[in-house]
Amino acid sequence: MTFPMDYLRATPTLSRFGRSVGWFVLVLGVVALGGCRGERSDNRPRQFFPDLDDQPKYKAQSGSTFFADGRSMREPVAGTVPFGAKPFTDEFGGVDFAEREGYLKADEHVFTGKETVLDAEGKPVMDAAGAERSMYVERTPIEELLGVKRADAAFGAAYSDFMALGEKKFNIYCVVCHGALGDGKGTVGTRWSYPLPTWHAEQYYRGGEKGADGFFFFTIRHGVPNVGESVPYPLKMPSYATKVSERESWAIVEYVRALQKQQGSPLQSVPERERIELEKRRSATPRASTGSVSGKGGVS
Ligand code: HEC
Repeated sequence: MTFPMDYLRATPTLSRFGRSVGWFVLVLGVVALGGCRGERSDNRPRQFFPDLDDQPKYKAQSGSTFFADGRSMREPVAGTVPFGAKPFTDEFGGVDFAEREGYLKADEHVFTGKETVLDAEGKPVMDAAGAERSMYVERTPIEELLGVKRADAAFGAAYSDFMALGEKKFNIYCVVCHGALGDGKGTVGTRWSYPLPTWHAEQYYRGGEKGADGFFFFTIRHGVPNVGESVPYPLKMPSYATKVSERESWAIVEYVRALQKQQGSPLQSVPERERIELEKRRSATPRASTGSVSGKGGVS
């Protein structure tokens, strides 16, 4: 179908002037439409009705002179429990506050593997840089993790479930490098770009230089940084924080401790009288091959 120009021309009611106005409007319309596909601009858009577009406000992470601590963002009120992170249900009123509290990760012990060093008055000790000094937690906070006291009858069963969890996760994530015995001779470990330690060296046993449970926990969460002058990779060992939860990390630590015991802890760490007994038993029972294992853990 074509535009009925004949009709326009033939219509007596449309004067010559009227027709030129019609054309003018049409051309103007086309030109104006063309303007819509114009250049990009970095200028702010024109505001015809500014209303509430611009108003004084704080942006996230910015500073403020209003609050004493100089931050615009406020800290959550002590004891705040996060809502909405996931649907929680329990039989009483549909809210499991204990589980919710877990989201806060407020328990420094359990969630960082470190604890703040306190002085005699219970105040945090500061280091030279003015930060609170912290140290690795000596022992896995097992009662907090299991929710059972050691003295309770239920402790044994809960602990062996925990150990089984540790074994499972160890065999998924660590065994490839650190080996089933923890001697660093896993199939990937022997081909890895950085040499792996054996956990049967004295420094890794409880009481040793790197023997705190919190140190193992921290290593799982953060990996081992590669420090030096020319560093091709930032980590010698990757972090497993996205693969295992805090709870599972502690379970792995407990499993590693069991491996160390099974493979023989350094005799120095055992009291004199038990040491003699142990030495007798050790020479009597053949154990898994630890021939290449350094430290005092080998057959003595
Ligand atoms: C991809 C290989 C790899 C995997 C998998 C791996 N590690 Fe490691 N790990 C290393 C290497 C390499 C080192 C030695 C780094 C160094 O030079 O200190 C190491 C060192 C360690 C150390 C001692 C750190 C130190 O400073 O002495 C601990 C503890 C440790 N790993 C725990 C674990 C645990 C637990 C797992 C399982 C969650 C795990 N690793 C998985 C490669 C690995």
